[in-house]
Amino acid sequence: MSLLLSLALLPVLISPILAQTWTNCNPLNETNCPADTALGIRNATYNFVTSSAGSTWNTTNGNLKYGTQGAEFTINRKGDAPTIQTNFYIFFGEVEVWMKAAPGRGVVSTIVLESDDLDEVDLEIIGSNATHVENNYYGKGNKTNEAAKAKWYPTTTPQDVFHNYTTKWTKDTIEWYIDGNVVRTLAYADAVGGKNYPQSPMNVRIGVWAAGDPNNNNYTVAWAGGEIDYSKGPYTMYVQSARITDYSTGSEYMYGDKTGSWQSINIVAGNSTAAKTLSAPPPVSMAQRWAGLPTGAKIGIYAGVAGVASAIIALWALCCIKHRRAGRKEGALADAAFEKDTAELLAYRAEMGSARRGF
Ligand SMILES: *[C@@H]1O[C@H](CO)[C@@H](O)[C@H](O)[C@H]1NC(C)=O
Ligand SMILES: *[C@@H]1O[C@H](CO)[C@@H](O)[C@H](O)[C@H]1NC(C)=O
Ligand SMILES: *[C@@H]1O[C@H](CO)[C@@H](O)[C@H](O)[C@H]1NC(C)=O
Ligand SMILES: *[C@@H]1O[C@H](CO)[C@@H](O)[C@H](O)[C@H]1NC(C)=O
Ligand SMILES: *[C@@H]1O[C@H](CO)[C@@H](O)[C@H](O)[C@H]1NC(C)=O
Ligand SMILES: *[C@@H]1O[C@H](CO)[C@@H](O)[C@H](O)[C@H]1NC(C)=O
Ligand SMILES: *[C@@H]1O[C@H](CO)[C@@H](O)[C@H](O)[C@H]1NC(C)=O
Ligand SMILES: *[C@@H]1O[C@H](CO)[C@@H](O)[C@H](O)[C@H]1NC(C)=O
Repeated sequence: MSLLLSLALLPVLISPILAQTWTNCNPLNETNCPADTALGIRNATYNFVTSSAGSTWNTTNGNLKYGTQGAEFTINRKGDAPTIQTNFYIFFGEVEVWMKAAPGRGVVSTIVLESDDLDEVDLEIIGSNATHVENNYYGKGNKTNEAAKAKWYPTTTPQDVFHNYTTKWTKDTIEWYIDGNVVRTLAYADAVGGKNYPQSPMNVRIGVWAAGDPNNNNYTVAWAGGEIDYSKGPYTMYVQSARITDYSTGSEYMYGDKTGSWQSINIVAGNSTAAKTLSAPPPVSMAQRWAGLPTGAKIGIYAGVAGVASAIIALWALCCIKHRRAGRKEGALADAAFEKDTAELLAYRAEMGSARRGF
């Protein structure tokens, strides 16, 4: 089944959007940013063991696989950073994620709440740290003092054990919970007198990235526990389930001015399209869909897969024979294209590294 799934996801693979902490349109700078689609309901629940993420999430980088432990976010090689993002926003609320972090030096598993004006609430787990997980926050993208704002909390082998990582976010406090215990509370006034308190509508992003890539700045690499060793991979983060609650109800959230304060956010009344999508009959899981097929269809699919596989092998053979014939020039062109892609990825890494870990 995983071959079928990978083939189905192939078009999604080629995505230009690579980071977790970016915004398409910053309402503090621009006047025509689109409104944020609201979740508008309590308890959007996702079981990644029985179902794929579905259409209320976008895959913004890489692709996911699904197995008995849920959604798999894997770094196989340089440049991999699989990430998903809700296509709805919450305006205060709760995010509960049951996750087993990816192991490995330089590998960072993350759960991020991010707003259009770069308010951010983070959970970050370093693959080589089997005793502590980190959380942090940013107000309007302010990276000053980020090392001091990051706090670490004892957690039993987060790379081996699924834990309940929950964030409860109101206009007054942010509470980070691990397995039901509140480990950290940030009050509004604690964040530069409220000015840097995360308070604008957020979407939820879950992913894994190679903070320890040797092309990142030294501080990022050091923070991530050291350089990643791609040859020791693959490194996989597992997400079993998620629950997202929106404390506001409505169809959209709109910035009323350029302050980014919670008081400036207008809640548009109406029914949430995300809620409608979620209340539709649950998407049939891959396994159920497969089990429901008549035997004839299964044989057909097996044959189809075999056909695709042999076509791939044939194409590969053709390409390489052609390559050898065409000689150096074509090879050099392919290499150049590959190098260009790689260079873009590295530029992104470096940028993300310095933006996120500029201390
Ligand atoms: C607004 O845009 C300017 C120029 O592009 C940039 O320097 C600044 O950081 C932006 N401000 C915000 C809040 O994004
Ligand atoms: C949402 O889920 C939480 C935790 O499972 C539960 O305590 C609460 O009653 C639920 N709320 C609604 C409205 O279903
Ligand atoms: C999610 O995907 C949909 C459909 O491709 C697109 O319209 C939307 O802008 C995406 N949202 C985000 C937050 O990337
Ligand atoms: C894990 O993080 C804690 C808190 O920052 C630190 O004291 C400890 O040395 C780290 N362990 C490893 C193996 O990096
Ligand atoms: C950024 O954070 C620093 C330290 O936390 C604070 O002194 C400064 O006022 C903040 N800047 C803005 C623009 O909020
Ligand atoms: C996960 O932790 C949160 C915060 O304590 C709690 O509300 C929720 O009920 C927990 N989930 C489960 C399934 O126990
Ligand atoms: C970062 O690493 C490079 C290469 O190893 C080294 O030349 C440079 O001095 C280091 N910079 C810092 C600030 O440690
Ligand atoms: C919202 O949904 C309810 C019931 O599903 C319906 O009665 C109502 O007309 C809808 N409101 C809007 C603004 O579409």
